[in-house]
Amino acid sequence: MLYSEKVIDHFQHPRNQGVLDKPSAVGQVGNPVCGDIMKIYLQINNGIIEDIKFETLGCAAAIAVSSALTELVKGKTLDEAYKITKDKIVNDLGGLPPAKIHCSMLGVDALHAAIDNYRQKTKGAVK
Ligand code: FES
Repeated sequence: MLYSEKVIDHFQHPRNQGVLDKPSAVGQVGNPVCGDIMKIYLQINNGIIEDIKFETLGCAAAIAVSSALTELVKGKTLDEAYKITKDKIVNDLGGLPPAKIHCSMLGVDALHAAIDNYRQKTKGAVK
């Protein structure tokens, strides 16, 4: 089989899919090769990611990665979340076919973009 059961489960029942009304930060990245786009919304309080949602226009692996990522990230500090690697997500999903590894990179990049966006916005602000 091409995809692990966990990938198929996340693809068919995505966790935390959608948008946040008043996000603390948003990050969006696209892969120019396959054209897939991923957007991550973060709700941050006291340096903790309290809520996260995603919108992904992309392949099954990209949707599964987004969904698994939101579960890994929720409740973590910004620093902890930033350290989550694509390998961690791929392992969590029980592996991805080699041609789909770039889809997991999209997840990490979108999360980093959202955290960078937050840090940019709050730079110099009293937290
Ligand atoms: Fe590009 Fe999956 S094929 S993100």
